[in-house]
Amino acid sequence: MGLTRKVLIASGKGGVGKSCCSVFLGQALARHGFRVLLVELDAGLRGLDLMLGMENKSPYDMGDILKGLCDPYDAVTVSDSQKGLSLLSAPAGDWSGFQHADLVWLCREISAYYDWILLDSPAGIGRGFRLGMDAADRALLVVTPDPICVRDAASASILLEREKGSGFSQRLIVNRVGKTAVGDSLPDLDAVIDQVAVQLIGVVPEDSSVSLSAANGVSLPVASKAFLPFENIAWRLDGDYRPLAVQ
Ligand SMILES: Nc1ncnc2c1ncn2[C@@H]1O[C@H](COP(=O)(O)OP(=O)(O)O)[C@@H](O)[C@H]1O
Ligand SMILES: [Mg+2]
Repeated sequence: MGLTRKVLIASGKGGVGKSCCSVFLGQALARHGFRVLLVELDAGLRGLDLMLGMENKSPYDMGDILKGLCDPYDAVTVSDSQKGLSLLSAPAGDWSGFQHADLVWLCREISAYYDWILLDSPAGIGRGFRLGMDAADRALLVVTPDPICVRDAASASILLEREKGSGFSQRLIVNRVGKTAVGDSLPDLDAVIDQVAVQLIGVVPEDSSVSLSAANGVSLPVASKAFLPFENIAWRLDGDYRPLAVQ
């Protein structure tokens, strides 16, 4: 299916839904027939395996590959429930001892087997973020509509542009919209997009199915509010037009 696209999923701030977006976007892309690898960059604080219902499937992780203890495929776990979706877990310890070039090499090494590699960044702009930035060819910034989160995402976006150049594609996902009971969420959304200054690719509503499905390691129910937004973001990522409907 052509060139592998390597997407950094980042935010600046923690707890805004990067991992949920990685998982549910990964599932949507896999449903569309793509081969998807989720790469977890949150060393020492793993969680994607649980969110995907794929825990304890491989004795190896990315750290073992980079240390030469196993082949890349020994550490990749293939989902039983979602055809086309695989996971590479972060090192159990931290990133010390790993070079930026290592992850770039690894992504290149395995890219022939995937259409999409989603790099789930940890919070902040530390080592994991930078490793992902070097390996990625585009980024999705995830924010919730609150001022601190928006400011952090704007900083992350500026850093990405500075390091990767203005041709590096960045898109914005506004997550958990409708969570606050105060006022209408639509004017907030405009302000968020203006402040981050990154083109919007999708809006994901606050939806208890997201947290429930992530906690239980199952796919999002088709009837859940967030299902279609993730479907549409996946189509748009692939260059298809899907109207933005925000209720
Ligand atoms: N759209 C959403 N609706 C409801 N809960 C959400 C939504 N997105 C994320 N969450 C919840 O927010 C918390 C943080 O999400 P997570 O994806 O782990 O964030 P991050 O990876 O940015 O730290 C989790 O408990 C998750 O279930
Ligand atoms: Mg996370």
